[in-house]
Amino acid sequence: MTGKVLISQEQIQAKADEIGKQITEDYSKLDEPLLLVGILRGSVPWMADLMKRIDIEDMTIDFMACSSYGASTKTSGTVKIMKDIEEDVMGKNVLIVEDIIDSGITLNYLKGYLKNRGAASVKICALLDKPTGRQTDVQGDYVGFTVGDVFIVGYGLDYNQKYRQLPYISCLD
Ligand code: HPA
Ligand code: MG
Repeated sequence: MTGKVLISQEQIQAKADEIGKQITEDYSKLDEPLLLVGILRGSVPWMADLMKRIDIEDMTIDFMACSSYGASTKTSGTVKIMKDIEEDVMGKNVLIVEDIIDSGITLNYLKGYLKNRGAASVKICALLDKPTGRQTDVQGDYVGFTVGDVFIVGYGLDYNQKYRQLPYISCLD
């Protein structure tokens, strides 16, 4: 069962407006194309809401799937790429779109991986940040909400692959 609503649908949509506007402003100043890279599966709702609010013509999207979390609520500390992007990253400004920055292990690895493939820049946009979970030194460049040390679900975030479809963020009872 899901518990009380921590972040409402309205709060998330308002945050998407705000961050989408900021990204538009920041990346409009740059010459290179923008590539949004969503991390499956958790980023799907956030990616869908965010991308609609970025007003940049020279923009493409792609997705990656990595494993760092297993079926439990604990991180394993290893990163494996299950699905790579198909777009060329060379010379592009890559913005990784993630549901949550928790341990930071996956994001830290992906930043290096995409930089090595010739990206002009690699930044991170996450709806949520859980600083208490951090196991490596990584920071979000665009962050929606900071959450405490509590396991949350909804809006992409799962527990055993469930609850991703909720339009809000909730805790588990
Ligand atoms: N909930 C669901 N998935 C997660 C969380 C969480 O709190 N942190 C990292 N992945
Ligand atoms: Mg995730």
